[in-house]
Amino acid sequence: MSNLRLNLIAAACNNMGIGVNGTLPWTIRKDMKFFNVMSTGNPPEGKQNVAIMGKKTWFSIPPKFRPLKNRINVVLSRSLQEKPEGSQYLFDSLESAIEHLSKPEMQKEIHEVWIVGGQSVYKVSMESPLCHRIYLTKVFADIECDTFFPEIDMERFHLVSDPAINGETQEENGLKFQFLIYERKL
Ligand SMILES: NC(=O)c1ccc[n+]([C@@H]2O[C@H](COP(=O)([O-])OP(=O)(O)OC[C@H]3O[C@@H](n4cnc5c(N)ncnc54)[C@H](OP(=O)(O)O)[C@@H]3O)[C@@H](O)[C@H]2O)c1
Repeated sequence: MSNLRLNLIAAACNNMGIGVNGTLPWTIRKDMKFFNVMSTGNPPEGKQNVAIMGKKTWFSIPPKFRPLKNRINVVLSRSLQEKPEGSQYLFDSLESAIEHLSKPEMQKEIHEVWIVGGQSVYKVSMESPLCHRIYLTKVFADIECDTFFPEIDMERFHLVSDPAINGETQEENGLKFQFLIYERKL
């Protein structure tokens, strides 16, 4: 089995909604910064983190921010024949992405693997034995969404705290939010 560890990162509101009409339902700059800092990380010289995403998440990123900079952008799609312009890799399943990223020549180039959405990519990643942590920004608001974060199985995951991450409730433009970390139980 691969020795990769998958870290999920998402923001979800009260109904666990993550998206609406192909975009984010809110603008929280501090959360966007958190997303960029966490998923980019601080890899050693010569390495980068990987950001794996579904096709709709790739196209939901404004073109000027694609590819996510300083990260290896991996897009999942069963219908695309060629990788979207600007992305580094296209795979037709999470398993084939993991298989490729686990190769020794790729291991030399990559540091951490981050799953950045959307719904079904989160689900299959969360069910994987390689899943390590879920960084979930809980947005305390009722917002209509059409895309949702899958249910977190509390038999398999538990909440942890990380001294490097502010776990207090914060507020921006009237929206309250909190950075939560779920870790897979051993
Ligand atoms: N709040 C957040 O943290 C957050 C994070 C990310 C995205 N979002 C939002 O979520 C929405 C987009 O997410 P989404 O769930 O609708 O779509 P998505 O997962 O980004 O993309 C769905 C497409 O990706 C491909 N795909 C998904 N899983 C796959 C797999 N296991 N293997 C191969 N291909 C796979 C399929 O493409 P084909 O049809 O081509 O096969 C599928 O139709 C947007 O509104 C976005 O703003 C929010």
